[in-house]
Amino acid sequence: MSLEEALGQRRSVREFAVGGLTLAEISRLVWAAQGITASERRTTPSAGATYPLEMYLAVSDTENLSAGVYHYRPGRHRLELVTGGDIRQPLAIAAGDQKWVSRAAMVVVFAALFERTAIRYGKRGERYVHMEAGHAAQNLLLQAAAMGLGATPVGAFSDAEVSRLLHLPAGEAPLYIIPIGRIPRT
Ligand SMILES: Cc1cc2nc3c(=O)[nH]c(=O)nc-3n(C[C@H](O)[C@H](O)[C@H](O)COP(=O)(O)O)c2cc1C
Repeated sequence: MSLEEALGQRRSVREFAVGGLTLAEISRLVWAAQGITASERRTTPSAGATYPLEMYLAVSDTENLSAGVYHYRPGRHRLELVTGGDIRQPLAIAAGDQKWVSRAAMVVVFAALFERTAIRYGKRGERYVHMEAGHAAQNLLLQAAAMGLGATPVGAFSDAEVSRLLHLPAGEAPLYIIPIGRIPRT
């Protein structure tokens, strides 16, 4: 699919078919958002190459992956288990009880360590981190569209609740949530 086609097809999808994503599909999605390309740079631009974003996935039991929260490590293109168990339901509640969120096969959460960028750019660095989250999120949405999957960006959620559910380390703040799943056949 061309980039133009993916742009044309991207639409917020809040209804999902039952069933998880394959590990190969998850691999392509996370790479599009934060994967390494040339010279240790990423698919997403970053102010001063400070890379403040961290990416977490909440998944149900799926092919070769047990239910849990995973942290994407771009350098090795690997997922690391943060905690076991399916947290999609509590995540949906933390997102203002948007019930459809719990029916997504995978819920991606972009978090940020603002300090990484603030060290270089001071107060303005905060703005850069938000801009960067937009870049990463759009990459993910377009990759989902190109793969025939449905996704919607979610900005409405409790920072404290999402941080607690993901066991985010001190200093990291959740910025954006993107539930992704299969589009039901009509
Ligand atoms: C920053 C941001 C926050 C959003 N938050 C939510 C949300 O919390 N829940 C939701 O259902 N949609 C959310 N959306 C999706 C918008 O409702 C959606 O993009 C808009 O209705 C346009 O539709 P489209 O994405 O299909 O073009 C958000 C979109 C953006 C850009």
